[in-house]
Amino acid sequence: MVKTKKSPAKKYNIAVIGGDGTGPEVVAEGLKVLKAVAQKHNIDYSLKEFDFTGKRYLKTGKLVGDKDVEELKTFDSIYLGAVGDPEVKPGIIEHGVLLKLRFALDQYINLRPVILYPNVWTPVRDKGPEQIDFVVVRENTEGLYVGTGGYLKKGSQDEVATQVSVNTRKGVERCLRYAFEYTKKRNKRKQLTLVGKTNVLTYAWDLWERAFHEIGQKDYPGIKREYSHVDATCMWFVKNPEWFDVIVTDNMFGDIITDLGAVIQGGMGIAAGGNLNPEGVSMYEPIGGSAPKYTGTGKINPMASIMSVQMMLDQMGETTAADILERACVEVITKKMKSMAAGRMGMTTTEVGDCVADAILSLPA
Ligand code: IPM
Ligand code: MN
Repeated sequence: MVKTKKSPAKKYNIAVIGGDGTGPEVVAEGLKVLKAVAQKHNIDYSLKEFDFTGKRYLKTGKLVGDKDVEELKTFDSIYLGAVGDPEVKPGIIEHGVLLKLRFALDQYINLRPVILYPNVWTPVRDKGPEQIDFVVVRENTEGLYVGTGGYLKKGSQDEVATQVSVNTRKGVERCLRYAFEYTKKRNKRKQLTLVGKTNVLTYAWDLWERAFHEIGQKDYPGIKREYSHVDATCMWFVKNPEWFDVIVTDNMFGDIITDLGAVIQGGMGIAAGGNLNPEGVSMYEPIGGSAPKYTGTGKINPMASIMSVQMMLDQMGETTAADILERACVEVITKKMKSMAAGRMGMTTTEVGDCVADAILSLPA
């Protein structure tokens, strides 16, 4: 993770959005672990819960309003479980909660590490932790997600639907700059790969490619620049994941390749992410969905949600606490859990949280 400085004796105000399905259950485990690590490292924090759920929407018609956004802007971080309720038409909560927050809080980076921890099963044969260790920097406020487009002659045989990918020089540039900085600070192979589709989407990816090389050449001569088409990237994730250090890509491609990334790192149960506004309020969430069929069964793996707390601490500047948390997770993953898959962990959701909290308290600082 990229390290930032901690201001002294700070109290963190954290907004908590459990959300739908198994969201509240995994968030509860993350908060249990936060409590343990905060106790150990004297971190002062307060929590405030927000009820942005499908259930509330069905009762009141309310999602995230502009007043809510203003209130959330006053927090240090937002900790989110999951959105998506099978009783609500697809798209409504996704747009009204998750995308609303990403856009309104201008969280222009979606940072998604793809790390295979020791002893975790990967479907990719012959690859281990040495080969699967990279980070995807996904642009998070533009591209196909902006909602530009519309219908013509809707419902008729001549119907036309357009969905436009919007790429601004400013939006592309701030994302690229973040990715270059991240690659520099990560200090592994110092290689940044632009993942796009320059061979077909010749306007959008021409802009990305020009900006990528201009910025890289001028300001980051020490970073090796690579390019890979998104379709080929899917192949390389499986065939040669060790080729990647840091990847930067647009919103839609980033969404797609990080599901594949999650699978090669052991599944949705372990993949964490951060929606970052480096100048504002960031929001951390496991990248898997609300997994409604597991709600209340104690089967869902909270590890991704716990690792989101690790990202949150790290970004807030609590790097020692973040490191301890990661070490505790690795200990539990490698020594205690049978699998990262829901229902096959060899323990329940709450037991995973208990184990990580215990490991934090017993690990040397
Ligand atoms: C993700 C999710 C979201 C996305 C959905 C739920 C809107 O798939 O965070 O990857 O498409 O960004
Ligand atoms: Mn996704």
